[in-house]
Amino acid sequence: MTDTCETLVAQIHERAGPAKVRFGLILGSGLGHLADRVSGVAIDYADLPGFPHAGVSGHNPKLVIGDLEGVRVAVFGGRAHYYESGRADAMRLPLEVLKGLGAEAVIATNAAGSLQHDMPTGSLMLLADHINFSGLNPLIGERTDARFVPMVDAYDPDLNAALLDAAAEENVTLDQGVYAWYSGPSFETPAEINAIRILGADAVGMSTVPEVILARFLGLKAAAISTITNMAAGMSDERISHEHTKEMAPIGAAKLEKVLRAFLRSR
Ligand code: HPA
Repeated sequence: MTDTCETLVAQIHERAGPAKVRFGLILGSGLGHLADRVSGVAIDYADLPGFPHAGVSGHNPKLVIGDLEGVRVAVFGGRAHYYESGRADAMRLPLEVLKGLGAEAVIATNAAGSLQHDMPTGSLMLLADHINFSGLNPLIGERTDARFVPMVDAYDPDLNAALLDAAAEENVTLDQGVYAWYSGPSFETPAEINAIRILGADAVGMSTVPEVILARFLGLKAAAISTITNMAAGMSDERISHEHTKEMAPIGAAKLEKVLRAFLRSR
């Protein structure tokens, strides 16, 4: 652990108590309010040196350490994206801190566009795998051999099975598919969407992939769920905008919260 990370972990323990965190939850655009559902200690990112603070509207830039369904969690109310700083490793420190707090796994959530007509706005998609369509990698510049991270089963099969069981228990349809990471912040062109469909993508978004690479590098298990906020570019007359993403995210968010709660109850 770096000194910065160690200091932050100590600072968080001082505020939130010494109990070990089991899961980290990273909340995507329009989903940040879920952080307010956790009874615990909320720490503004601004009080955690190195954490992303300006952020993106629709995020809730605070770390909440507390209990959700009786399980100790660290909820990241917002994330840093590559497109904010040009740094693909912008979430490295928060994930290192999560590992330092003792977590076994991270579950990332995001808002995404759908490439599948039978996965419309409001659907939830469990990531079975991803395509890094950005050519970027958060481990570029890492000097240790640990940088050669295997990415087979990066989305942990046991976690995915448990999330699917949790969704079934809650009567929530949880599709499974491949997520493509597009750097943003502009949205994709219809031609780019056609290209990634041919490559095998089912959904597209501007986050999550670097976090999952970092999580695997750090030895954290990973899983991720997309809330579909629009059909991808060129697929419908629906307008694509960040405003629309924020408007539509709550439709999936209600279902997502049910799935996450049922998942945590099963742990
Ligand atoms: N593309 C990229 N990111 C997104 C989209 C999209 O269509 N919708 C929500 N986030």
